[in-house]
Formats: sequence, C-alpha cells, structure tokens
Amino acid sequence: MITGKFPALRLRRSRKNDWSRRLIQENNLTPGDFILPIFLIDGKNKKQPIKSMPDVYRYTIDNLSLVIDKAIKKKLPMVALFPYIEKKKKNNFGTEALNEDNLVCRAIQLIKKRYKDQIGIMCDVALDPYTSHGHDGLISSKIILNDETIEILKNQSLLQAQMGCDVIAPSDMMDGRIGEIRKYLDKNGYNMTQILSYAVKYASNFYGPFRNAVGSNQLLKGDKKNYQMDFRNSHEALREVSLDIKEGADMVMVKPGLPYLDIIKLVKENFKIPVLAYQVSGEYSLLKNGINKNLINKGVVLESLISFKRAGANAIVSYFADRLDQILD
Ligand code: PBG
Repeated sequence: MITGKFPALRLRRSRKNDWSRRLIQENNLTPGDFILPIFLIDGKNKKQPIKSMPDVYRYTIDNLSLVIDKAIKKKLPMVALFPYIEKKKKNNFGTEALNEDNLVCRAIQLIKKRYKDQIGIMCDVALDPYTSHGHDGLISSKIILNDETIEILKNQSLLQAQMGCDVIAPSDMMDGRIGEIRKYLDKNGYNMTQILSYAVKYASNFYGPFRNAVGSNQLLKGDKKNYQMDFRNSHEALREVSLDIKEGADMVMVKPGLPYLDIIKLVKENFKIPVLAYQVSGEYSLLKNGINKNLINKGVVLESLISFKRAGANAIVSYFADRLDQILD
C-alpha cells in the first residue's frame, strides 16, 4: 500500500500550502449532506428557546416558514419534524400520535401546501412524545410490548404518509416493524413513500437534551434498554441492518453519531446502501456549550461533522444544519 520512503517521500510537501491541502482533500461537506431537525409546539407566534440546547428553538406552525424558508434557501434536502406535546394530551397508549389534527400532521400539511416538493419531510415513528410514561411503545410491567406497538406504529406511519410525509423514519426499535410498515403503506397506496430505518439505535445517555426538547424527560420511567441497543455491541448492529434491508428499508440510520463512527463504517462496508448519521442532542449541546464557554473553539463543529463523512455516512442529521454558512466556510 505505502509506496516510497523518507527522505524521497515527504508527506509534508503536499501539506505546505493551503492550495495544495485543498487539492488533495478526500472528504467535504455540502448543504446537501444535511437534515435539519425542527421542534414543533402548539400555540401562536412562538419561537421558544430550548434550555438544554442553546440556539435551538421550538416553533409554532404559524412560524414554521421562518425556518423552512431558510432551509430551502440554503439548499438543505430535508427537515425532520419532532413535536413537543402538552402533558394533558399524553396518555398510556400515546393515542395523540393517531390524531389527524396533531402537531406533526398540521406541520406536514402546511409545508407540503406552501413548498410542494422543494424540500423533503421526514417524521419520526415512535410513541415517546405522546405517551405519559415517555417510552416509544405500549408498556406492560416495565417491558415495551413489541407486536402490539407495531399495530399502532403502522397507523402512525400511514397517517403521516397520507398527510404528505416523504420519509417515514421509525425510531422505536421494535423487531419487525419495518416489514410491517412497508406492507401496510403499500397496501394503502403509498408504495413510493420512503422508509428510513433507525436500524441501529443505541440506548444512549446522549439523548438527554432532546428528551427535554420534546418534554418527555421528566416523565420517562426507567430506561430504554429493553428495546434500544447495548452500546457494548457492534455485530448486533449488522444483524439489525440486514433485517431492516430485507424488510424494505430504503436507508438506515446510525444513532448517536460521534461515539459510533466505527459502526457507521462497519455498516457501510458491509451493506452498500445509504447510511445516515444522527449527531444527537447531547453531542450538539456538549459542543455548543463548550464553544459558548470558550473552552474549545468553534472549529470542533466542522471537525466532528467531517468525521461522519470520513466514516462513510451519506448524510447527517444535525442541529447545526441551520447555520452551515458559519461552519462550512
Ligand atoms: C425517540 C427519539 C429520540 C431521539 C430521536 N427520536 C430519543 C430517545 O430515543 O429517547 C433523540 C434525538 C437526539 O437526542 O437528538 N424516538
């Protein structure tokens, strides 16, 4: 592999000048590599700061164009919608997820009506914003029920597709849900709606700030270890991905991002399909707070985002995606 040796070969020659460094760059990022998560909240004319995530906001539907206009102008291919649901609308079964007038449904309809196909919409399929216990599915004696939960997720997926959602993104980690959702969408005439499976989702401590953003952190009982993956494992990630590909996933997600670069690479090397990385809320808040406190300079953002590319990710979900002009230059 290595051809040549010192002193005939000096790798520093090609690093000497900026033009030369630019010439031999192996990886780069463009706005087309990013998905912007957007938090939604009920009410009027709000752009509400989120305590756990500096510079990230919850938007009311009437204010959505503030952020969507910008996303389109910056040529982001897709946004991901996440609702903050009021406590009084939550229950044990997460029934608000199936309300065709819920926040996510209203947001999809507005975006599709106003912007047509100028930007893609991706929606989480999972019950955690809607359940009073903060778990992604139905619960019975501390265990999340698999097959019973899938029945609800099928309907949540179909509802989102009917509203105009382009990419259904199950993040719940129930076994077999991709196949069941694919079949159900097809049967109901939505065979062109894409599925992005959160195939590899670890039971991570890095989700904390997000749970605050969607209002499930105070409510969450226990942890999610009986359905999300153990961070000690990597081969298990390959089993998850291979099942989801067979069941019909168009793309797969690895989540969180930075502590799991090895997994992104492993998945990409084993399966030649689009692999996305999620730079989750905890990663975002650590970097952002570090920068705000002058503990570290803002170059850490580009450096961590490039690492996803180097590992083989096709695209990255990032809360920094609305400020790329400050990051990519
Ligand atoms: C829930 C969901 C989570 C995130 C996205 N969808 C949290 C969880 O599983 O508890 C986390 C995203 C982030 O931390 O940025 N289905």
